[in-house]
Amino acid sequence: MVAYQKALQHLENRQYCWLVTGVAGFIGSNLLAALLARNQQVIGLDNFSTGYQRNLEQVRDLVGEKAWRNFSFIEGDICRLETCTAASQGVDFVLHQAALGSVPRSIQDPIRTNESNISGFLNMLVASRDAQVRRFIYAASSSTYGDHPDLPKVEAVIGRPLSPYAVTKYVNELYADVFARCYGLDSVGLRYFNVFGPRQDPNGAYAAVIPQWISALIRNQTLYINGDGETSRDFCYIDNVVQVNLLAALTDNAAAVNQIYNVAVNERTSLNQLYGMMRDLLLEKFPELENHQPTYVDFRKGDVRHSKADITKAVRLLGFKPSHRVNEGLRQAMSWYIAHFASIQEVAGV
Ligand SMILES: NC(=O)c1ccc[n+]([C@@H]2O[C@H](COP(=O)([O-])OP(=O)(O)OC[C@H]3O[C@@H](n4cnc5c(N)ncnc54)[C@H](O)[C@@H]3O)[C@@H](O)[C@H]2O)c1
Repeated sequence: MVAYQKALQHLENRQYCWLVTGVAGFIGSNLLAALLARNQQVIGLDNFSTGYQRNLEQVRDLVGEKAWRNFSFIEGDICRLETCTAASQGVDFVLHQAALGSVPRSIQDPIRTNESNISGFLNMLVASRDAQVRRFIYAASSSTYGDHPDLPKVEAVIGRPLSPYAVTKYVNELYADVFARCYGLDSVGLRYFNVFGPRQDPNGAYAAVIPQWISALIRNQTLYINGDGETSRDFCYIDNVVQVNLLAALTDNAAAVNQIYNVAVNERTSLNQLYGMMRDLLLEKFPELENHQPTYVDFRKGDVRHSKADITKAVRLLGFKPSHRVNEGLRQAMSWYIAHFASIQEVAGV
């Protein structure tokens, strides 16, 4: 935590201007909360395609009116270069999170995914270059490992992409690399592995597994596991993601810039184990879950079987030290999940 403490201390003495794209989404709104809580100035950009006004309102409640005055919001689409250009004026650091997530969504609609994730990304790079931002930090993805079988995943060794989404995230890395070479735009790519935490959307066909399952468990509903439940992931709590974004932006280690990093905890949890952890954590408050059992359905197209990150590179170059393992993250977020999911009406599907 030494590097992170140092970064946080630095922010206490210095106010920067940050652009967070995808600010109304899960990760973006958590970055916003962390920055405003440290008296930073933030511009947010979002088109509400998968994000929500309510996420921004929750951040406002969390940080209070004084800090909220340091935030300005632009409702707009990264697919429009003029919007990206306007949002980037006077910005020190870009934390680019806006994209259409989800492997199945990209299989269903590769064109829309490509528009936001590649054309929109390129617009943000051009706007950041022209505004001469200090550094461009962006959300890459563990899906870039594709069909490569090795575990744990090491940044330099990737396979063939298994979905249109994975293609888009890999193209982001290629573009960022070329912008460093051709225009001197400094960037850092963060390959997130299955992030979870407050404000992640539990609803809809493309919801991530953790909020979807907790939402189903809280209401004692049918919960579906794709495949045999032995599929595994390196689930990463949101606080770890916030930490690595700030480290990537503020590091003064020149060797750490223009690099790609795995962002996870180096811990493999199977879906069956995950289900057990969640049920155990909820049992005290929802004793009726004692008899709850998951329903197993087919494997999902495009999903990799196992995933686990080698995080040595982020530890070594950025000083990253995950603060939460999966069980600690679930425990920390559980009161938020209970408070916010208990009232949600929609039935969580597969
Ligand atoms: N959550 C994860 O586990 C995970 C894993 C790997 C990578 N990522 C990446 O992290 C980033 C954030 O993901 P998230 O989980 O917070 O998803 P999210 O859907 O909650 O947030 C994405 C936000 O981007 C906005 N957005 C999408 N397209 C846009 C566009 N064209 N113009 C402006 N805004 C747009 C959405 O409205 C939304 O608020 C994404 O780039 C995603 O691909 C997430």
